[in-house]
Amino acid sequence: MCGIMGYAGAGNAAAIVYNGLLRLEYRGYDSAGIAVMYDGKIKIAKKRGRVKELSAFCGELAGNVGIGHTRWATHGRPSDKNAHPHSSGKITLVHNGIIENYPKLKEELIASGGKFASETDSEVAAKLVDKNYDGDILEALIKSCKMLEGSYALMVMCEGFDGIAVAKYKSPVIIGLGDGGNFCASDEPALAGLCPGICVLEDGDFALITADEVKIFDSDGKRVERAVLENLAEEKSLDLCGYPHYMLKEINESPAAVRNTASAFSSCGKACEILSGAKRIILTGCGTAYHAALMGKRYIENFSSVHARADFAGELRYASRTAEEGDVLVAVTQSGETADTVEAARLYGSFGAKVLAVTNSPHSAITRIADGVVYADSGAEICVAATKSYSAQLAALYLCACVAAGGDVKAREEELFACSDMLRSFIERTDVRRLAERCSKSSAVYFLGRDLDYCAALEGSLKLKEVSYVFSAGYPAGELKHGTLALVDGKVACVFSITDPALAEKSASAVEQVLSRGGAAAVLTDIDGVKEEFGGRAEIISLPACGKYLAPLFSAAVMQLLAYRTAVILGRDPDKPRNLAKSVTVE
Ligand code: AGP
Repeated sequence: MCGIMGYAGAGNAAAIVYNGLLRLEYRGYDSAGIAVMYDGKIKIAKKRGRVKELSAFCGELAGNVGIGHTRWATHGRPSDKNAHPHSSGKITLVHNGIIENYPKLKEELIASGGKFASETDSEVAAKLVDKNYDGDILEALIKSCKMLEGSYALMVMCEGFDGIAVAKYKSPVIIGLGDGGNFCASDEPALAGLCPGICVLEDGDFALITADEVKIFDSDGKRVERAVLENLAEEKSLDLCGYPHYMLKEINESPAAVRNTASAFSSCGKACEILSGAKRIILTGCGTAYHAALMGKRYIENFSSVHARADFAGELRYASRTAEEGDVLVAVTQSGETADTVEAARLYGSFGAKVLAVTNSPHSAITRIADGVVYADSGAEICVAATKSYSAQLAALYLCACVAAGGDVKAREEELFACSDMLRSFIERTDVRRLAERCSKSSAVYFLGRDLDYCAALEGSLKLKEVSYVFSAGYPAGELKHGTLALVDGKVACVFSITDPALAEKSASAVEQVLSRGGAAAVLTDIDGVKEEFGGRAEIISLPACGKYLAPLFSAAVMQLLAYRTAVILGRDPDKPRNLAKSVTVE
């Protein structure tokens, strides 16, 4: 969370940084700011609100070196004064991360005469670098970072230095190597179309970026080299291609995500080797990725005799403190930077477990920790709500489960190719507007299912609440009668997913329980008997027959469309839900 961007070169720094911030806005969007150096002096524009609030000021910021920030508030509410950049003396900086020991540092700085203009932890870093500055910005930054605890990606400008000094620890920084200028940014999408090559900084790295060169240093200030990688960010992922929102565009890209994930699987040899030797598989992730992990656990246990478990990444460290021979931790993460997931992977790695990453971000932190990577190849996802990345994760975990079982992977890949085609035409013809109208007027929406359908229900509920702000919860259908049924009345809607014929009768009785209490029910099903039973009494959404393991790809599409339509009806911005950010790099 928080997107930061820097540029030094021959171009107009304010315009380049501004465009970079627009592309990084999914990392946070409560305030934004840009600083530019002109004639040795630094000028700042910063405002509460979205990045576009800065457009009026960009013309006033002439210069060829600049940094910028789009914020997701951690310390201090969104306001002009808490917006970055923060300055002290000759120093101006932007920060992504959390400085955990900032209260103590702030106290010390105040005791030695420091005055603070904001409530942020980041301003402490500016004061500290200023205090340690004695003519050498790199030295001052290294010295200051030794005093910081927590996580930080810092981009620092200093009057007198025609470039940007960068520090990285547990928050991502990508360096872009351009022709006529160099860049630094939180994420690759900011650099799409700007430079062919990138370097990914490692924890403890520092860098000096000027128009002509990039120098990278380790924590002792010794020059180090980092591999130059191809910049994989594509401008087309930033193009709405005629869709009104990224969320709708990305839901429509789910079929391609499933297909590409199946195609990419043959290059995941190392990951397959690890899975083949697994005795126990622990799956983890946060939010949507955790819901994919829950589905993955069911795939593994249904296909093989390997014991599998799924835990929230933020809770995993409390669940178990050791690993056994043959343990494999599967970390599922779209961004590859989610702090809870990365830390869980690090921890299990330190216990001796093999770590496998399921991600669509090939240059992310998780890929550097993992012993093997499976590409959930959905391409860059811009909308804060995960859609196509979830479909890709389900496809990837379906194949992983097949490997763990020693099954016929080629056959499963073929199934996914066929499924991808079915999903494309299914999304094109599926209209959930009537159900969305109903949800938009409901006091609560409950998503219910059994087994795999229960995992799908959890994700459906997260999607709806996250983008529409309508209260929702996901439950196992069998749990309804143990408490939640007390909340069901004429103002409540319940969305059932029923795709396993062996469980259909039991789930159907939960639908009856809702209908007989005056609640509205929608049923997502591919089972003819269920359609007949509830036709006319509940809203039926017909799924294509594809078997219970791949049905969640279709129910996910329905639930994603439902969340999207409900958000639009209620006038919400589905791409940037309030209070959220896409890449959660704090624990
Ligand atoms: C999904 O819609 C959410 N925005 C969120 O739950 C997300 O899935 C979670 O933060 C994990 O992110 P990751 O996949 O990048 O690790």
